[in-house]
Amino acid sequence: MKKLKAAIVGCGRISVCYEDAFHRLSDQVELVYTVDKDIQKAKEMADRFHCSYTDNFDEILDKHIDVVHLCLPHYLHPLMAIKAMKAGIHVLTEKPIAISLQDADEMIRVQKETGVKLGVIFQTRYTKSVEKLKEMISRGDFGRIHTARSYLTWNRPLDYYDGSDWKGTWDKEGGGVLIDQAIHSIDRVRYMLNSDVEWIDGSIHNYSHKFVKVEDTANAAIMFKNGCLYNLYATNIYGADSPITIELMGEKGRCGLIQDMGYYELDGTYAEIRNTYETTNVGPDYWGSSHHIQLRDFYNSILNNQSVMVDGLEGRKTLEMIKGIYLSSMKKERITLPFEDVCYSDIDTPVK
Ligand SMILES: NC(=O)c1ccc[n+]([C@@H]2O[C@H](COP(=O)([O-])OP(=O)(O)OC[C@H]3O[C@@H](n4cnc5c(N)ncnc54)[C@H](O)[C@@H]3O)[C@@H](O)[C@H]2O)c1
Repeated sequence: MKKLKAAIVGCGRISVCYEDAFHRLSDQVELVYTVDKDIQKAKEMADRFHCSYTDNFDEILDKHIDVVHLCLPHYLHPLMAIKAMKAGIHVLTEKPIAISLQDADEMIRVQKETGVKLGVIFQTRYTKSVEKLKEMISRGDFGRIHTARSYLTWNRPLDYYDGSDWKGTWDKEGGGVLIDQAIHSIDRVRYMLNSDVEWIDGSIHNYSHKFVKVEDTANAAIMFKNGCLYNLYATNIYGADSPITIELMGEKGRCGLIQDMGYYELDGTYAEIRNTYETTNVGPDYWGSSHHIQLRDFYNSILNNQSVMVDGLEGRKTLEMIKGIYLSSMKKERITLPFEDVCYSDIDTPVK
């Protein structure tokens, strides 16, 4: 079988998950280039894979690379993705797809024009528990799902932002706890409900992270077109990283996730769904250990010319929920979709 030639752009914190995946998926992929503006980081990873390295992204565009993995500060995702797609290279970018809906739209347009694949990492969708709960929900096991909630209460202290030239900024990260951490819960709720959003009423705050301009806390009510009202709460100023909880409540029962473990209650019977990873975690446990599953899925979609599960449009829909909360907070009003997106700088921050 043909092996895909891959490059990774950005050899920072998340790259350990890719190292793990490249080893696991060595039947499908060969890492041929590492790229980082910090040449030492690129070299260190390249040495481990006996591949080429560079600090200049443009250098890899004519090197017959099949797929590029973008693990970069958020604002760089569109720029690099568009360049790669125009060079005929498939792109799998880390979340979020972009920090503005306009940039996401341009990425989707270029993907259609070039015909390459574009995917967005939401690895927490790729678990047995999410798969099983989504199946039960769509089969109607819980009846109509009328309400949902997600809670993310984590801790990101000063040293998380210290030394980073993009975290905690509006123009480079595009926001705080919502766009960086809670994005995975928001994505899973939307994915499991399989519905688009009608309106968003939200509010963001910076209660304690006075060393950055972005939000450390957010809450929102989000109405889906299928009539489900979703309440979310997210903060990264809690005392520790508590497990993320998601719950969906239906007419006949309820189901949810505590971190990656699924559970459901139907007819008075409670059951749990454990994930059956044949893996140990790489990186912090809240990253999960399913990057390699999404990478395999993406490679399969390239090799078999199939559609991508989390494509540009899927990435955009989750980004749109986050941007809707920001806009609602700034305008102090309910936002009905679709809406005109706004990007913020640290000067006109929408945080209360
Ligand atoms: N899926 C997840 O659970 C998860 C977890 C953590 C991070 N992430 C995502 O991964 C991405 C990277 O996050 P991180 O925590 O690894 O950040 P990081 O700051 O540790 O790494 C980013 C790397 O990009 C490099 N870089 C910056 N500008 C560059 C340029 N112009 N050309 C080449 N290299 C450049 C930096 O030198 C750095 O090594 C973000 O999108 C983030 O949201 C996802």
